[in-house]
Amino acid sequence: MNKAESYWRRHTVRAPHFWTRRGSLAYLDWRYLRYPLMREVMPPYGSASGVVLDYGCGPGNDLVGLAEYSTASEIIGVDVSLRALRLARRRLRLHPVAGGGRVRLMQGDGARIPLRDASVDHIWCEGVLHHVSNPIAVLHEFRRVLAPGGSVKLMVYNRNSVWRNLYVPYVLGCGDDLDEACRKSTDGKGCPIARFCSIRDVSEMVGVAGFDCDFMGSYFADVELRACRRHLFAAMRSPRIPPKCRRFLGEWTLDVRGYPMDAAGFYAGIGGVYVATAEDCAWADGREIVDRLYWPNAQAETSERSE
Ligand SMILES: C[S@@+](CC[C@H](N)C(=O)[O-])C[C@H]1O[C@@H](n2cnc3c(N)ncnc32)[C@H](O)[C@@H]1O
Repeated sequence: MNKAESYWRRHTVRAPHFWTRRGSLAYLDWRYLRYPLMREVMPPYGSASGVVLDYGCGPGNDLVGLAEYSTASEIIGVDVSLRALRLARRRLRLHPVAGGGRVRLMQGDGARIPLRDASVDHIWCEGVLHHVSNPIAVLHEFRRVLAPGGSVKLMVYNRNSVWRNLYVPYVLGCGDDLDEACRKSTDGKGCPIARFCSIRDVSEMVGVAGFDCDFMGSYFADVELRACRRHLFAAMRSPRIPPKCRRFLGEWTLDVRGYPMDAAGFYAGIGGVYVATAEDCAWADGREIVDRLYWPNAQAETSERSE
């Protein structure tokens, strides 16, 4: 087991204790308040039907949502962390609609998802792929377990976001290594991998696993909108942040709510949402893409050594 997976076996996302179904559902609503536009771009489960896999389900937020609000006949939660699965199991007990075997939980680390080929209709994967050591291996597994006509809904951290271009460099401070500061800023300082991906990065990654993909837009963390309200105009002129970020901020426009959009007209939130559908193309290994995206420093060292 590598560093990233063993980190997630020891740490899991914030999980309050719930005593009632009502409290558990209220938490889902609170989450939508905390992440503006999440409800719009990652809509609460409406279209998920048949067998749905929540990959990297954590302590079960989306499992609860899928059980309560989707027409899924079966919901399977997979996570590398037994602790997360235990928390999810406890929470799901509050929801009768999750009973009778409709929700199953299993441990898996992506190298092999413990499900049969073509046995799943939809995959839900929120906030996971940017943390795993080999996202393309996971995507190949998605392709294997997905039935014909199935789709994958993905959220990965957005490179063109307020988080990466304003909040981290201006509010938290990034020194001269923005990627490293971003890595430490999301899921604990010790989280080994937290990649911020562009639309092209994601299209390339899912492409080598045999998927087509559409960018659905992004949602914000509330802290991004606060940072924008307070600091956008000062940050644009500040030498504290990398020139690339300053240029990027200079291209933004704000909608009537004050939500920033990038030059392409996409909201600049941290949660980049994609829908991937299977296409008929030969699978590739994609190792070089993973290396470029996930281990750019290691790659630079290797090419320096070989010169
Ligand atoms: C940031 S959390 C997101 C949890 C959940 N999807 C949500 O949105 O609340 C990332 C989750 O991915 C899981 N994870 C990390 N690496 C994994 C891997 N290789 N295979 C399966 N799950 C993994 C972690 O244990 C953690 O629960």
